[in-house]
Amino acid sequence: MRKSLRLSILFLFGTILLIAIQVQCKHDGLNVATLKQVCFDTEIAPIFSNNCASCHNNSHMESGYSYADYNSILKSITPFDAQNSKAYIAITGKGFTQLMPPNSALSENDRILIRVWIDQGAKNTICTSPPSTDGTTGGGGGGTKSDAVCFQRDILPILLSSCGTTGCHNQTSAEEGYVTVSYASVMANMVKPGAPNSSKLYTEVANNKMPPSPYTKLTKAAKDSIFNWIKNGALNSVCTSNCDTTTAVTYSNQISAVISRNCASCHSGSTAQMGILLDTYANVKTYLDNGRLLSSVKGISIQMPPGYKITSCELRQLELWKANGAKQN
Ligand code: HEC
Ligand code: HEC
Repeated sequence: MRKSLRLSILFLFGTILLIAIQVQCKHDGLNVATLKQVCFDTEIAPIFSNNCASCHNNSHMESGYSYADYNSILKSITPFDAQNSKAYIAITGKGFTQLMPPNSALSENDRILIRVWIDQGAKNTICTSPPSTDGTTGGGGGGTKSDAVCFQRDILPILLSSCGTTGCHNQTSAEEGYVTVSYASVMANMVKPGAPNSSKLYTEVANNKMPPSPYTKLTKAAKDSIFNWIKNGALNSVCTSNCDTTTAVTYSNQISAVISRNCASCHSGSTAQMGILLDTYANVKTYLDNGRLLSSVKGISIQMPPGYKITSCELRQLELWKANGAKQN
């Protein structure tokens, strides 16, 4: 008797959950990955600084939040998940949260921009052209003579290729499965924003302690990039400029490289994970067609590659290629 009562409560709960999930999915018709990348510097930062920073800034943090700069904005944001981001919940007045800004809602356009930006990963996308190399431009960064260094474009690949492979930063962790180098892992204890000479990430590569022998040391250019990136605040910045999606995306020009760069190490040969092969056009197309390739790189039910996301440019290329019929071109 009691057992069947428990079962029916469980059943009822399950049904409610299913309905809730469906309702949520219906709401979520927006496929942000196919939309143009929203720029943080030109589109998002001004919304927050004009509408929020008067009450939420670094010296006066109403409710503990500041909207004065990228790093503080991110504290109330869950990248790729606007619906679960405090800032987004606040500007839509959802749940039990008071609508923000109080008494004067943002325009619908601004709310959508923020939503898309978050769902695209809440990246520090820089769309203004980089400062000139002669150092005459003012602005952020402390006036160094460097070009803008973008974490996703310039730093992460160095770390992945030089540190990921040496086994120094790809230790296994029980919950996440596989920790590879990511922005979060680097920021956890290796970087002091603004102070390269007190940042392990820089000092260890500068004095050639890392990567350890027999791996090749970093080039001077790579070291300089790391130095400048940290000096300029160590932001999780993305530069959109190197993403060439204006020319036709083809399997042989871009897609096979995206896959081999990010997936081949685990999805080729006889030891392929779960027997999933992504080593030929036919195999890639199979997983593109059944939806699992894109859902996994977006981290929808499982995150592929484990531990980091492919760049928004790579994702865009995959989507464009798919939209054009995923041909063997
Ligand atoms: C006029 C001042 C003012 C402005 C402008 C303002 N806020 Fe707030 N914000 C507040 C106050 C006051 C609270 C505390 C509200 C409360 O506790 O009920 C708050 C609380 C919050 C919270 C915390 C809510 C929670 O439940 O923990 C978030 C998130 C937030 N604001 C985001 C924003 C964002 C995003 C903007 C701009 C789009 C913004 N605020 C603009 C005054 C402001
Ligand atoms: C570091 C190794 C590694 C890399 C790199 C990697 N994968 Fe995986 N992949 C795995 C493992 C392990 C599983 C099995 C995960 C599980 O079942 O928990 C898996 C499973 C999958 C699955 C099946 C998941 C599902 O839908 O059930 C797909 C699809 C996939 N990977 C695609 C990719 C793609 C695409 C890339 C590159 C963008 C990639 N993987 C890169 C290790 C990797």
